[in-house]
Amino acid sequence: MEHPLLFILFKLFLIILLFTPQLTLAQYPACQSTCGTLQVKYPFGTGDGCGSPRFQPYVTCETGRDQLLLTTHTGSYPITSISYTTSTLTITPYDMSTCISMHRCSSILGLDWASPFQLGPSTFILISCTPPTSSLTLCDPSYSHLCASLYTCPAVVSVGLQLFPPTNTCCVYSPANLNGKGELDLRALNCDGYSSVVSMGQYPTDPSQWEYGVALKYVNGVLDNNIIDTKCNACEKSGGVCGYAPLAGDSFVCVCKGGYNTTMDCYSSYAQNQGVFWSAASSPTGEIWFGFLAGLIFCLLN
Ligand SMILES: *[C@@H]1O[C@H](CO)[C@@H](O)[C@H](O)[C@H]1NC(C)=O
Repeated sequence: MEHPLLFILFKLFLIILLFTPQLTLAQYPACQSTCGTLQVKYPFGTGDGCGSPRFQPYVTCETGRDQLLLTTHTGSYPITSISYTTSTLTITPYDMSTCISMHRCSSILGLDWASPFQLGPSTFILISCTPPTSSLTLCDPSYSHLCASLYTCPAVVSVGLQLFPPTNTCCVYSPANLNGKGELDLRALNCDGYSSVVSMGQYPTDPSQWEYGVALKYVNGVLDNNIIDTKCNACEKSGGVCGYAPLAGDSFVCVCKGGYNTTMDCYSSYAQNQGVFWSAASSPTGEIWFGFLAGLIFCLLN
């Protein structure tokens, strides 16, 4: 070799060239599999083109705060848990009262008729209502002990009640339901606040131990079920996130970690998709191929 330095530089240049496509392709994937601490799987998605097109208008991951939100015509509500096996989720509205913190609110909690969400099994406890609440037909007097328990919380003073108030301003609405407009309208019920309990666990008399939130059920469409069975499971197993292509009739796409999309799963697309090789370079098998190729070039040069 007459110019060994030149050759080394040339090899270096080749190696840099080899790595460059991987760097440009390994961008942040468009859809995330988590939002904050929540695992986000189909039919939910973290943004446009992610999850199911039937769910996407209602559920998004708020950027910056990493909080999954359910948005309806009455507001946006943090989603605090999802059970994919029972198709239920829990929302925790900011103005919902708990034993620790009670809020005055005249707000309305509503679900959209066209959305795939329905009220699940929660117990609403309406507080600081105009007495007597026995005139409210939706109150169930057989649960009035829950009112007595919740009214032992010192936070009652923040909704204008005295400590240990009489329970004739409280009303248990169970099973909770929404009115004809799909809403819980506190103003129409003449109540200043509400609490919602998902579970009392083993502490029916200790409201500081209750699990607060509004349980919702979600309903997969026939199309969603079909996609889950045929494509989405394979996509998620291969480390991808299920989504859809708004510009292609909302057809299914699997969004892979390397920042590329496929109509199959993220494994089988390695072989299919040209350019995908570079993303594969970050996987163990990819590295072997990479080493093989680099070795080949070295041999050819020397
Ligand atoms: C992949 O799909 C997602 C979700 O549909 C979309 O936002 C993104 O632009 C797509 N990326 C490419 C490279 O097509």
